[in-house]
Amino acid sequence: MADAAQPSKPRRRAGEGGGAGVGGDGLTGEDSTPPMVAPLGGVRPSPAVANRQDGAVQGIAFGVDVGGSGIKGAPVDLATGELAAARFKAPTPQPATPDAVAGVIGKVVAHFGWDGPVGCTFPGVVMQGVARTAANMDPAWVGTDVAGVVGAAVGAKVTAVNDADAAGLAEVLYGAARGRDGLVLVVTLGTGIGTALVYEGRLIPNLELGHIELGGVDAETRASAAAREHQGLDWERWARRLQRYFRALEDYLWPELIVVGGGVSRRADRFIPLLQLRTPIVAATLENRAGTVGAAVLSQISAGG
Ligand code: BGC
Repeated sequence: MADAAQPSKPRRRAGEGGGAGVGGDGLTGEDSTPPMVAPLGGVRPSPAVANRQDGAVQGIAFGVDVGGSGIKGAPVDLATGELAAARFKAPTPQPATPDAVAGVIGKVVAHFGWDGPVGCTFPGVVMQGVARTAANMDPAWVGTDVAGVVGAAVGAKVTAVNDADAAGLAEVLYGAARGRDGLVLVVTLGTGIGTALVYEGRLIPNLELGHIELGGVDAETRASAAAREHQGLDWERWARRLQRYFRALEDYLWPELIVVGGGVSRRADRFIPLLQLRTPIVAATLENRAGTVGAAVLSQISAGG
């Protein structure tokens, strides 16, 4: 069951399109300068997420965002961070085994006739393209070469990246943290809690602070958006948990800005005003396309490296 009515687009490969919209009429934002991506510097845990490209990202690239309930993909205009075509979404197969999920990703990519490199998120730690954790996915993923399995299904080079890292990078390049200096912490509140740290354009991957201890348990089980729903918490009660969680994060990290993403960020007015933090905290602006956009960016950087 797909939710996109958009017909397949003509085949395009990353880098083609010449930075469509740069300085032209196609831009939706006020700033027409393509975002700059700094190299990752000393931190090199994974070639998949190492920002090896100095300078602007532009052109069209392809991103896929893998979640517990849906798998969505779209070509992305890297000059603007906008989707270049309506996304295509398919339900995550159950059980969400590597082969089943990879098969659906193959269909999502094929929908667009895309035959270039693909960036693909995964909701767990990804090192050298391999999944190391899978808190909310089928355990068969742990140890699976995500880039390899998905690459075989897609028939192209795949860059695999943690979902929060992709979303965080996208918010820094195009969204709520664009143009902000210093250390930015992006926290996605969904089925799990994803965290990403970006320091002056450099992504520090696989942060995994969704699993810090809060009240003697894994924070994700108390403060995720899923915990709010499953435990029937009203906004005030959930906000009290978030207060403790974000206070702990700001005490550990001292970021300049916290960006809250995930689907629930659309209702940020219900809980952000209830938080008392020393750090400015704002809602993400890319909504549910952040993962797709960030994955597309990283696929191009990886292909260029
Ligand atoms: C995982 C993270 C992931 C987050 C959001 C957590 O359970 O450990 O890697 O980013 O969920 O999907």
